[in-house]
Amino acid sequence: MSDQNPIVGLVDFSAVAPVAKTLWPGPRRDYVSPGLIDPGLMRFFPSLQEGDVADLQWPYLRKDAPHIWRRDLRGVRNPYIGVLSLDEASLLHNNALPFRGRRALEIGCHYAWSSAHLVAAGVDLDVIDPALGHADQMRDVGASLAPIGPARLWAGFSPSIVPAVRAMQPEPWSFAFIDGYHEGEAPRDDARAVIELLADDALVMFHDLISPHVAAGLAVFADAGWSVGLYNTMQIMGAAWRGKATPAPHVADRDMPAATAEHLKRFAPLS
Ligand SMILES: C[S@@+](CC[C@H](N)C(=O)[O-])C[C@H]1O[C@@H](n2cnc3c(N)ncnc32)[C@H](O)[C@@H]1O
Repeated sequence: MSDQNPIVGLVDFSAVAPVAKTLWPGPRRDYVSPGLIDPGLMRFFPSLQEGDVADLQWPYLRKDAPHIWRRDLRGVRNPYIGVLSLDEASLLHNNALPFRGRRALEIGCHYAWSSAHLVAAGVDLDVIDPALGHADQMRDVGASLAPIGPARLWAGFSPSIVPAVRAMQPEPWSFAFIDGYHEGEAPRDDARAVIELLADDALVMFHDLISPHVAAGLAVFADAGWSVGLYNTMQIMGAAWRGKATPAPHVADRDMPAATAEHLKRFAPLS
């Protein structure tokens, strides 16, 4: 894979109205919900740096949310990719904790900040990201996870590689986190590929539900009869679950803007 080319082409967002009309006016902060465990992984990611959201062009960024937005400085091919806020990372970790020892899937790792929170929860993790085809990124992701625990890293595109990765082990996935390509049909296609390959007791999380394209992925699970709900975090996370799985309780930051977008009305709030 060429080290010059990004994984995905540029998308023209000029016709999309930004979801945030204002910027959070005060200093930004980190937040962890009362009752949730923060595994304290920031010390393993010295390359995470707070970014100024005012400069960012993606229309689906909630710039009016009070939390810190971070990028990984190793991401030189695409310096505008953001990672989960600390609130979101701890929420992912706590939802994964009941699945310790069970097989889990992550689609879209970037430099492994979110993956680290899954590995720290003790799940047996498969990670899919085409950017792992860049030798430096594969090395950097491996180095970030090394002090935390093992994961299987797959350089490939979801959804096409998903069935092959599933077939590498006999056990179905009990947990999945979908945070790969966000535009057009991609989140829906990821959801359709993953939903076929999950255990009877399973929980799936999405990031960036403020984007209607991503919310279409959560809708795949709702339409298939799974329980679904929304967490009011910086970018709005969602969960789908069935069987004995249950989503972690979460108290939203009191200053978080309400999750009132029209395309989210069909989903119940979880925080
Ligand atoms: C927003 S970043 C993920 C951030 C990460 N989850 C975190 O919070 O630390 C999205 C990632 O999806 C990856 N991606 C893009 N297209 C993909 C595809 N078809 N399959 C899997 N991953 C994809 C990108 O390379 C990028 O690393």
